[in-house]
Amino acid sequence: MTDNKIIDGKLIAETIKKEIAAKVADMIDHGQDAPHLAAVLVGEDGASLTYVASKEKACHCVGMISSVYRLSEKASEEEVLNTINFLNNDPEIDGFIVQLPMPKHINETKVIQSINSNKDVDGFTLSNIGLMQLGEPCFLPATPYGIMELLKRSNVEIAGKHIVVVGRSNIVGTPVSVMLSRKGIDATVTMCHSKTENLGEFTRQADILIVAMGQPEHIKADMVKEGAVVIDVGIHRIKDDSEKGYHIVGDVDYKEVYKKVSKITPVPGGVGPMTIVSLLHNTLLAAKKNR
Ligand code: GUN
Repeated sequence: MTDNKIIDGKLIAETIKKEIAAKVADMIDHGQDAPHLAAVLVGEDGASLTYVASKEKACHCVGMISSVYRLSEKASEEEVLNTINFLNNDPEIDGFIVQLPMPKHINETKVIQSINSNKDVDGFTLSNIGLMQLGEPCFLPATPYGIMELLKRSNVEIAGKHIVVVGRSNIVGTPVSVMLSRKGIDATVTMCHSKTENLGEFTRQADILIVAMGQPEHIKADMVKEGAVVIDVGIHRIKDDSEKGYHIVGDVDYKEVYKKVSKITPVPGGVGPMTIVSLLHNTLLAAKKNR
């Protein structure tokens, strides 16, 4: 039996993937090449290797082309910038990402800002951030776009509601706060962060609570309003005695908070699956825009 309280990100992501796959098939039927997403991966960071592999798999799943440009941990900043310059100018690449974090000796800001904004499917360049702020068409960052789609496709009313965002990161908290408060979306947004005093006083006021604070199970039931909608962006591995040796939790104490809310995203299977789908969405957009 389906549980209407649970916002099933996995299912919604599968639905969006099917929609994207149909659009890709249509492009191919009309004699066009499939959209091509590239990823630049510098070094051997374990999580980054997993993320890039998932992105490649998702591309293939919807009929897109993917390629990975692997550079050694010791690659110089100049080598990374040369790779980006190549991708900026290669007409066969519709969009690309530079997987973060990069090794310490590389200036991430300089690298990211050297990406051609028309190919910046992560939405990390100044141009895309500025357009987002103005509410103009642009590549929206993956997780915030994924959150917006989860809310929309779960029929959660946003206009006029009080949304409390916990966390102010450049890739989640800050952009999602901006996007939700734009004209046409019309939420009233409060942004909380690590220096917010009496966090619970704010979170208890939320009709929709979005948590991206990076603290395992920090949000307890007494910090949430009865009937609220809760979106949990956190993902943490907690060591245990199980066969796997760990289990996964979010930033929200799911078991207790679940009892109080009207809707909630599980971890895993909530926001996570949506981020890669957002990247596919942007790659399709790039292929349509740039050719
Ligand atoms: N590392 C963790 N998340 C992301 C992301 O969304 N994009 C890139 N490029 N790197 C990441």
